[in-house]
Amino acid sequence: MTTALNIALSKGRILEEGLPLLERAGIRPTENPLKSRKLILDTNLPEVKLTIIRAADVPTYVQFGAADLGIAGKDVLMEYEGDGLYELLDLKIARCRMMVAEPKSLASRDDPDSWTRLRIATKYVKTTQRHFAAKGIQTDIIKLYGSMELAPLVGLSDRIVDLVDTGNTLKANGLAEVEHIADISAWLVANRASMKMKQQALKSLVNRLEQAVA
Ligand code: ATP
Ligand code: PRP
Ligand code: MG
Repeated sequence: MTTALNIALSKGRILEEGLPLLERAGIRPTENPLKSRKLILDTNLPEVKLTIIRAADVPTYVQFGAADLGIAGKDVLMEYEGDGLYELLDLKIARCRMMVAEPKSLASRDDPDSWTRLRIATKYVKTTQRHFAAKGIQTDIIKLYGSMELAPLVGLSDRIVDLVDTGNTLKANGLAEVEHIADISAWLVANRASMKMKQQALKSLVNRLEQAVA
């Protein structure tokens, strides 16, 4: 008998960069997940299914065992406070960095060592709080769900914490990077119970993915 394995992942970058990786690991969805409206997709491997969910929901599905495995950005994992989740493998896709950014005019004369209190707009409230608390800097955090780059332009905040890859979005909005918080990439995570109950099946899938990353 084969052991069913569910992999949770999100549309957008993770799926776009994850599909070629899964393909190299010998896993191909039977229909195009970028086009399909289905939320559970079969693959060429009868035991492996892909569950398509929002990026920030991946850790929740995996923690509660609704998926055995998940693919989630380190940013999402850093922000998630649940347990029962193992970070198994850096998949080295969807790579970017989490940064503090501010208006260019301010950045040219700003020194992160002189910060005492900051007003920051971000989607990463807990990570931002943790980062600055560790440095003894107080923060007033404004929670947003996207388009953080807009906040300093309209006076909502002085600074933002967001992901940066090419830097094009910052540049287009007159912002500059001023402090690095973390390097980000997508990780393969596993449910703790699945690791025990489905050890063999998981191990072989993780091995294939490990080779696909290398
Ligand atoms: P949603 O649209 O549901 O709010 P999202 O914006 O997090 O989700 P994506 O933009 O596809 O969805 O990002 C998924 C993951 O890809 C992020 O969690 C992050 O790890 C990574 N990522 C985000 N932006 C970039 C980027 N510009 N370059 C590279 N990787 C990125
Ligand atoms: C992400 C991120 C930045 C941008 C950075 O947004 O939140 O806004 O990419 O990439 P860059 O440095 O290459 O410009 P995304 O494109 O995912 O938009 P959304 O999440 O707000 O939909
Ligand atoms: Mg995004």
